[in-house]
Amino acid sequence: MRVIEVEQPGGPEQLSVVERPDPVPAGGELLIRVAAAGVNRADLLQREGHYPPPPGVPAWPGLEVSGTVVGRGPEVDAATWPDGLPVAALLGGGGYAELVTVPVGQVLPVPDGVDLIAAAGLPEAACTAWTNLIDSGGLAAGETLLVQGGSGGVGSLAVQIAAALGARVLTTAGGPERAARCRELGADVVIDHRMQDVTAAVHEATDGRGVDVVLDVLGAGGLETNLAALATGGRLVVIGTQRGARGTLDLGLLMAKRAYVTGSTLRSRTVAEKSRVVAQVAHRVWPMVADGRVRPVVHATLPLDRADEAHRLLDSGEVFGKVLLLP
Ligand SMILES: NC(=O)c1ccc[n+]([C@@H]2O[C@H](COP(=O)([O-])OP(=O)(O)OC[C@H]3O[C@@H](n4cnc5c(N)ncnc54)[C@H](OP(=O)(O)O)[C@@H]3O)[C@@H](O)[C@H]2O)c1
Repeated sequence: MRVIEVEQPGGPEQLSVVERPDPVPAGGELLIRVAAAGVNRADLLQREGHYPPPPGVPAWPGLEVSGTVVGRGPEVDAATWPDGLPVAALLGGGGYAELVTVPVGQVLPVPDGVDLIAAAGLPEAACTAWTNLIDSGGLAAGETLLVQGGSGGVGSLAVQIAAALGARVLTTAGGPERAARCRELGADVVIDHRMQDVTAAVHEATDGRGVDVVLDVLGAGGLETNLAALATGGRLVVIGTQRGARGTLDLGLLMAKRAYVTGSTLRSRTVAEKSRVVAQVAHRVWPMVADGRVRPVVHATLPLDRADEAHRLLDSGEVFGKVLLLP
């Protein structure tokens, strides 16, 4: 099969098409013929050599795919997982390929109303948004959320899921066009972080109270703003470090607000932990997709052999939602 490998850690020019043996599904795994593979920011970090794949997964990038079942390992029921079944899957790596193997617990049906290609943009973003908003952030209906980066792959899903849950959603976006699109996704308040003071805008929108949960992709560079944005008892959930991993936290303010700071990564979790998140997403998020409250947001699709272009596009900051690769 054809895969996209990273020749040497470095820029997008290091991505090249190579032939690798077809994978063989182990016990409890499916073999999937890939229809589309999602491109994630983590893939760019992996390409640069900053985010090595966990043990046991292929060396090439790719954290999510959609496709059809074409084989099963031992202990997988052929009646439940027949050949030709359209599915989407959360991977530990290896999605930039014509074929992938994946534990059945990390596989989802393609939700009703979503085409097979667009479904590739859902697993990583939906699982990340769900587990961080709900498991880590404890977000409940009627609470207020700030999504830092509602225009991103994860952010665009987080905005929609939180709105569907009945939360009031504030989000940041870079520029008026991206802000308008975040409103279309269901954000109640959009703050253009290029033009506005985010802290002041959050306080204005919440009558000075602040928000119950912040979902953050900025990391160190967002700590001060995010802590200032929290209400008493608020929860800051960090999922990205786009503006640094080490920062200074005002512990006096943290104590005064009785606030919480937490974070998580999805990729490093065990198959059992990922399977639990996938099951929750199937149970709670897929019905939102099926009834149209949550949609995959696909910015562009490109052939697999133009993975370098896909990485340049994501790096350009112009992408709204997801870029998908088609083998
Ligand atoms: N922890 C996990 O399990 C996990 C899983 C998946 C992804 N992630 C991480 O989550 C982050 C987002 O991933 P993604 O795939 O959604 O990436 P993405 O599609 O590239 O989105 C990045 C977002 O950051 C926003 N942004 C950039 N500068 C900003 C600023 N100064 N203030 C506010 N927002 C800003 C961008 O919005 P504008 O251009 O509109 O400003 C964009 O929406 C990445 O760091 C990724 O590594 C973590």
